[in-house]
Amino acid sequence: MPTQQSILITGGAGFIGANLVRYLLEQGGYRITVFDNLSAGSKDNLQQAVADSQKKVSDTFFIEGDILDADRLTEAMRGHDRVIHLAAETQVRESIRNPRPHLEINAQGTLNVLEAARLAGVRGLLFASSNAAAGRQEPPVHEGIVPCPMSPYGAVKLYGEALCTAYYHSFGLPTAIFRFANVYGPYSLHKTSVVNRLFGRIYEGQPLEIFGDGLQTRDFIHARDVAQGLELALRQPLENDRVWGQIFQIATGVETTIRDIAGMILRLKDRNGSSLVFRPPVAGEVRRNVSDIAKARRVLGFEPRMKIHELLPSLWEWYRQSRERRPNPLTTAGD
Ligand SMILES: NC(=O)c1ccc[n+]([C@@H]2O[C@H](COP(=O)([O-])OP(=O)(O)OC[C@H]3O[C@@H](n4cnc5c(N)ncnc54)[C@H](O)[C@@H]3O)[C@@H](O)[C@H]2O)c1
Repeated sequence: MPTQQSILITGGAGFIGANLVRYLLEQGGYRITVFDNLSAGSKDNLQQAVADSQKKVSDTFFIEGDILDADRLTEAMRGHDRVIHLAAETQVRESIRNPRPHLEINAQGTLNVLEAARLAGVRGLLFASSNAAAGRQEPPVHEGIVPCPMSPYGAVKLYGEALCTAYYHSFGLPTAIFRFANVYGPYSLHKTSVVNRLFGRIYEGQPLEIFGDGLQTRDFIHARDVAQGLELALRQPLENDRVWGQIFQIATGVETTIRDIAGMILRLKDRNGSSLVFRPPVAGEVRRNVSDIAKARRVLGFEPRMKIHELLPSLWEWYRQSRERRPNPLTTAGD
C-alpha cells in the first residue's frame, strides 16, 4: 500500500459514508474526497464525523455532485487510487411504490461510477450492495446462494453487482462487492431503520410499534464495523484475486429479534414511559435474516467488534442530543 491512498467516496455525506470517513481518518493514511449531491446526506453530518475523528488535519475534501453527471464524476475521480461507491436511493418501500425513477438513478448511477473509474484509471472500486440483492433465502445466507431479490431496490443492487463483475473481467478494473446487513449507528438521523424508528417513538413519548409478533430476526451491524470491512479491502494489493472480483457479506452472523431490540430500548434509563404495541405484520416481510460471514473473516480478516446490546445506551444518547438540535429530521432515506 502506498504511504497515503487517495480515496473518493460517492455518497460519503450519508449515514454509512460519515461513519466511514471518521473511521478512515482515525486509521490514518487516507486522503478522502466525498462526492455527494446532498439529497439525503448533509455537510453537517460529514463535519460532525470529521470533528469526532479528532484529527487536527482532516484530509477530507467535498464535491457537491450527482452520480448521474458522468463528466463531472470522471473529472472528480482523476488522481484517486480507489473509489467506494455508496451513493444510492436507499428506500426499499419507495422502490416498490415508484420503481422507475429509483431504478434509473441506481442503475445509471452505478454504471456511471464504474465507467468513470475505468476512464480515470482508478485501481480498485468497492461497491455497497445489500442483503436485499440476495433476497429471499434460507438463513444463514452465504455468498454462493442464487439471488432472489424481492424488491426493485434489491434487483438493482444485483444489477450493480453484475456490472462490477463485468468491469473486472472485461476491463481489468479491480472491483469488490460488499453485501451489508441491517446497519445501525450514529450520523443516521435522516434514516428510518428499525433502531431509529424505535428511538423516534421513545423520543416522542409514543409506544414502540412492533409489526407482527416481533419474533422476526435481523442481523444488525454497526456502521463502524461496516467501515472496518471496507478498510480491510482498501489495504489489498491489486493482484489479490481472492478479493477483487469477489462478493463479501458484511454482517455479524448474529440473529436478533425485533422484540429483543425493542426490549433493550425499553430498558434505557430515560425512556419517556413508552411501552410496546403490536400491529399487523407487513406483507412479504422476511421472517429470518442472518448472514454467514466466514468468507469475510477468512479472506479479509474481518471481525465485527460492536455489540448492539452494549451500544444502544450511547447510541440513544447520540440520538436524543441530535433530535434536540434537529427536532424534525428528514426521513427520506430508509432501508
Ligand atoms: N443503511 C443500511 O442498512 C444499508 C444496508 C445495505 C446497503 N446499504 C447501502 O449502503 C449505501 C449507503 O447507504 P446509507 O445507509 O449511508 O444511506 P444514505 O442515504 O445515508 O447515504 C446515501 C448518500 O448518497 C447520496 N446520494 C444519493 N443519490 C445521489 C446521487 N444521485 N448522486 C450523488 N450522491 C447521491 C445521498 O445524499 C447520501 O448522502 C447505499 O448504497 C445503500 O444502498 C445500506
